[in-house]
Amino acid sequence: MALSAQQVSKRIGNPATQILTSISLEIPDGQFVALTGRSGSGKSTLLYMLSGLDSVSDGAVLADGKDLSQMKRVEKAHFRNEQIGFVFQFHYLIAELTVLENVLLPAKKYGKAAERTEFAKSILEKVGLAEKHQRLPRQLSGGEEQRVAIARALIMEPKYLFADEPTGSLDSVNGEVVMKMLELANVEKKMTIIMVTHEMDFAKRAQRQIQLADGKIMHDSS
Ligand SMILES: Nc1ncnc2c1ncn2[C@@H]1O[C@H](COP(=O)(O)OP(=O)(O)OP(=O)(O)O)[C@@H](O)[C@H]1O
Ligand SMILES: [Mg+2]
Repeated sequence: MALSAQQVSKRIGNPATQILTSISLEIPDGQFVALTGRSGSGKSTLLYMLSGLDSVSDGAVLADGKDLSQMKRVEKAHFRNEQIGFVFQFHYLIAELTVLENVLLPAKKYGKAAERTEFAKSILEKVGLAEKHQRLPRQLSGGEEQRVAIARALIMEPKYLFADEPTGSLDSVNGEVVMKMLELANVEKKMTIIMVTHEMDFAKRAQRQIQLADGKIMHDSS
């Protein structure tokens, strides 16, 4: 089983700007992939395509052979909520909700907030935020918000975790905490992880490194 991109291109705007050009990839289930490349090379855009959060202009993304663009609305919603965890480059926490409520948001959509509460607290404890679960996002530092966003992405124990610079605003101690959590989720839960990073030490720890340049794959270690 695998997540695959078949000649995926993405154009945006009118006149159109080419953002990704004919990307083909196969990511077997359980692989930990580091996605690197300069600013503007298309890393975030590729994550949106692979996760189905945005649609491709050409080509297709298939999860276990199923074309994401062919999924009906309800099926797509289930796929996003249950199989995909996404840590956005910019955190997108809900300002009016507490830390714990933000983490439980994906579970709440399925009426599973209550049964996931203890698990949510255990993840928050792992990222060093046990004492802060009743705070609002504005009462957190940028790095703390980042860790809440990671906890939220893990709450449903998704099959695929997309993380866009998850350690980007963290100091080295917390960056290591987050990296270890991702490695644990990968090893213990067999979670497929696709992580954008600028930190070469972290990229090297992934099983596979893919480098983008100008919307194309420049190097793939597999
Ligand atoms: N909605 C959009 N409209 C027009 N251009 C866009 C849009 N989104 C992204 N781009 C352009 O596409 C290119 C790739 O953007 P993307 O965000 O994928 O890069 P990135 O590799 O994630 O960069 P960074 O490391 O800075 O996060 C950039 O040149 C960007 O300006
Ligand atoms: Mg980006």
